[in-house]
Amino acid sequence: MNKKLFFSLFLLVALTAALPLYAANPPAPTGEKVLKVADGQKAKRDSVKFWHSKGHKDIACVQCHHVVENGQPVFKSCNADGCHNNYAARKGPDSYYAAFHSPDKRSCLGCHRVEFKAGNKNAGTKCASCHTP
Ligand code: HEC
Ligand code: HEC
Ligand code: HEC
Repeated sequence: MNKKLFFSLFLLVALTAALPLYAANPPAPTGEKVLKVADGQKAKRDSVKFWHSKGHKDIACVQCHHVVENGQPVFKSCNADGCHNNYAARKGPDSYYAAFHSPDKRSCLGCHRVEFKAGNKNAGTKCASCHTP
């Protein structure tokens, strides 16, 4: 096999292998996403409006979509089965409340606190920064 052919084949294989990396990461949804408790659960606060754009577009997907399968983040709702769907607990990995308010940087409030302290006042830390009618 001559060098040129070998190199072309090598490139083809490398590109084919890399394809799923691009195909698997869909663009982030545009527009407003309303986050609220599951049907049948009683909410104490106003629901939360979230945008992938505004403020969050430069954050890596995996920072929030932190379950990784085959090297790719899994995109599903926070309270999907087996995730943060324990509405009674205030703490722990399955706690719905903790997913959004724990000091962990993956949680909304956790990250906003760090950002706010660093001087980014647009990352709100008051209840009403996120819970709005
Ligand atoms: C890893 C960090 C991080 C996480 C996690 C995060 N945010 Fe933010 N958020 C930011 C930063 C930084 C800003 C301010 C961006 C700017 O400078 O405008 C922001 C801004 C916002 C704003 C104001 C947007 C605007 O400009 O009107 C809202 C509302 C918001 N976030 C809600 C949420 C909610 C709800 C979650 C969880 C589902 C969340 N954020 C998770 C970093 C984060
Ligand atoms: C700051 C946190 C954050 C970042 C960064 C982020 N997302 Fe999201 N994403 C969310 C939240 C919160 C939801 C709504 C989850 C819910 O409905 O419970 C969501 C929902 C989604 C959904 C819909 C899932 C479903 O079935 O309900 C897709 C697809 C998605 N994101 C893709 C992306 C991609 C692609 C990126 C990176 C380019 C990204 N997200 C970055 C927080 C984030
Ligand atoms: C950075 C965004 C953010 C801030 C700030 C925030 N929350 Fe939340 N909170 C959320 C998200 C997202 C949810 C999940 C969506 C929902 O259920 O409304 C949630 C859910 C809740 C829930 C469970 C659902 C319900 O309504 O009963 C309670 C209780 C709650 N928050 C209380 C608070 C209180 C109290 C504060 C102020 C100390 C606060 N939150 C500040 C994002 C935030």
